[in-house]
Amino acid sequence: MQLKKLRKLLNELTVTEKVGQLIQLSGEFFESSNDIVVGPEQKLGISPKIVNLSGSVLNVAGAKKTREIQDRYMAKSKHHIPLLFMADIIYGYKTIYPIPLGLGATWNTKLIRDAYKNTASEAKASGVQVAFAPMVDLVRDPRWGRVLESTGEDPYLNSQFSSSMVEGLQNGLNEGHGMASCIKHFAAYGAAESGKEYNTTDMSEYRLRNQYLPSYKAAVDSGVKMVMTSFNSLNGVPATANEWLMKKVLREEWGFEGVLISDYAAVSELVAHGIAEDNRMATQQALKATVDIDMKSPCYANELEPLLENGSISEEKVNEAVWRVLKLKNELGLFEDPYRGASEQAERHELVSKKRRELARKVADRAMVLLKNQNNILPLNKNQKIALIGPYADSQELIGLWAVHGNTKDVISISQAFREHVTKQNLKIAEGTNILENKEILNNTGISSDEQKSFVLTHEEESQKNQEAIEAAKNADVVVMVLGEHTLESGEAGSKTNLTLPDNQLKLLEKIRSLNKKIVLVVISGRPLVLSNIEPQVDAIIQAWFPGTEGGHAVADVIFGGFNPSGRLSMSFPYSVGQLPIYYNHFSTGRSPETSKHSTRYTAKYIDTPVKPLYPFGFGLSYHHAIYSNLRLNKKTMNKEDNIKVSVDIRNDSEVAGEETVQLYIRDVVGSIVRPVKELKSFKKVALPANSTITVSFEVTNDMLKFYGRDLNYESEPGNFEIFVGNNSETDLKEKFSLIDE
Ligand code: GLC
Repeated sequence: MQLKKLRKLLNELTVTEKVGQLIQLSGEFFESSNDIVVGPEQKLGISPKIVNLSGSVLNVAGAKKTREIQDRYMAKSKHHIPLLFMADIIYGYKTIYPIPLGLGATWNTKLIRDAYKNTASEAKASGVQVAFAPMVDLVRDPRWGRVLESTGEDPYLNSQFSSSMVEGLQNGLNEGHGMASCIKHFAAYGAAESGKEYNTTDMSEYRLRNQYLPSYKAAVDSGVKMVMTSFNSLNGVPATANEWLMKKVLREEWGFEGVLISDYAAVSELVAHGIAEDNRMATQQALKATVDIDMKSPCYANELEPLLENGSISEEKVNEAVWRVLKLKNELGLFEDPYRGASEQAERHELVSKKRRELARKVADRAMVLLKNQNNILPLNKNQKIALIGPYADSQELIGLWAVHGNTKDVISISQAFREHVTKQNLKIAEGTNILENKEILNNTGISSDEQKSFVLTHEEESQKNQEAIEAAKNADVVVMVLGEHTLESGEAGSKTNLTLPDNQLKLLEKIRSLNKKIVLVVISGRPLVLSNIEPQVDAIIQAWFPGTEGGHAVADVIFGGFNPSGRLSMSFPYSVGQLPIYYNHFSTGRSPETSKHSTRYTAKYIDTPVKPLYPFGFGLSYHHAIYSNLRLNKKTMNKEDNIKVSVDIRNDSEVAGEETVQLYIRDVVGSIVRPVKELKSFKKVALPANSTITVSFEVTNDMLKFYGRDLNYESEPGNFEIFVGNNSETDLKEKFSLIDE
């Protein structure tokens, strides 16, 4: 529709119709064909009248269902304004990819852009027009369950993925393809104190701007259509009422003109935060912060009109919000085609197709991170006698908590994939125990006591399962143990303080170890677990995350050598939960254990735990062996206009070809504020042929040296710098240069 006509439409709306466009309700309000759905309205405390006027709905998907709802909605819509369907499509719609922490481990933004482009095609066929994705929160504390949804701890890597995911989802949007992306959660939700869900975040503006905001800004610079506010308070003001964050930073500084939606009930939660006395005050605060859509709270529905009537807010502000919503619907072509091409026929063609499975497998292969491979026990030989032991052996629960619309029935289990590689005679499979038996966790995950019964085994059942596993392992040459945390233990409201594998699984591992077999551990989890106690007990470790629809195939591809693992961690694995938050790009402090002249005791460390993580950011092993050497710069000084060429030689002295993720880090040795000991500034993925040496080069530019300094200006500061290149953040291959001001 032409904007002039759209503006005319806006001007024809009554106040109530305008308010309706600023409300998002959940599916139960729309799914029954009769007009009044009393239960949900009463529960939410809104009038039936406003339901039929609400402008968008969350987490309804499926061509048949969305078309029926749209037809009913439009038939009652005086101005024929289509309903907007939004859903949590975080890492796949029906074809589910690895969780974003695994996608981050691919360091392959081009591949992930393609995955999100494919996701948008699937979701569009099912009538979903906006994805509440990507989640681009920076995370440093795996106690927080939502690290699952993040690509990790680094501002630069997260920014690269943020852009690629938004571009993937919104690819071809103007030509009627793709879907709108809604990034979340703005802002700094990942810094929740003590990793506790929905908790306070509080940090200097230096830290916020230099570390936590870049990935959101990258999405805005990539044209993201929508932003979701975060639940947390940030420096004393909840994001959903934070005018500084939403108006000054997001809209004025970054020029974001899209739709701002609250997180679920976050407007009404301003009262619980203690920043608003009641829903009316909360409504006023959220609108002042330019929140356009109130997701699933009664605030805008009940309070906007009274606030307009008593003059507390202007109709101009409401019009601005409605205009942004109508503009988005118009950009999506909904006035011309309210279904955007959704059809059951399109679904049959698009959903979980053979090509999409191949892509999901390709991504999952690259998300796997090989953390240990003692004596090169991996890859396994298919003629070996293999015992596949553990509660994840036959499980199809490999898609994680936020695969909201995925179907575990589509998942390739690890045992199914193993059977494609190993003969029946050479493969024994036994679960050995359950995934989750901890009653306290079960009680806190919201599942009913009846459902819990299937989780907890009696002592006899546990012994029986253990014994079956021991029998299966007895005659094996090697045992592959597939252990990990349950889906319900991670994702939203999945914060934990104990990050080791559960006792029942550790007991099983101990019994298998007593057989003196080689053990390969495969970890299924939505977060970095603390593996330091079991690391010495196994010969190899593969971090598989929740690997998605093709997860079983990807695990087998790595284990049997069909794929040479190339994954590199995008989040540190702590040695102990007591180290948290732990991250590589930390400040030096006045007493670094590496450089301080004080005696060891009096340095920045613990007396009972190493100061380093078990596995650092950027780390991962491969089946080839890469040696980095001869790091060199084409000059030792640069000014703000020119750059420096950095080169490094990489030798593969093995018979196996592979892929290297060459990482370039920079340290600003002296700044107007303290600076991280290292910061990722570039990376390249390069093919490394067997028995070969290649040279990889980078350009160091002035832009790489910019940061928000003492005066909060974003610029580089002359002085000395160090450059590090290697295959993980602990590389000590270093050179120096200076930035001069001339
Ligand atoms: C949830 C999450 C958010 C999600 C929204 C809609 O509480 O915080 O990530 O998109 O509600 O389901």
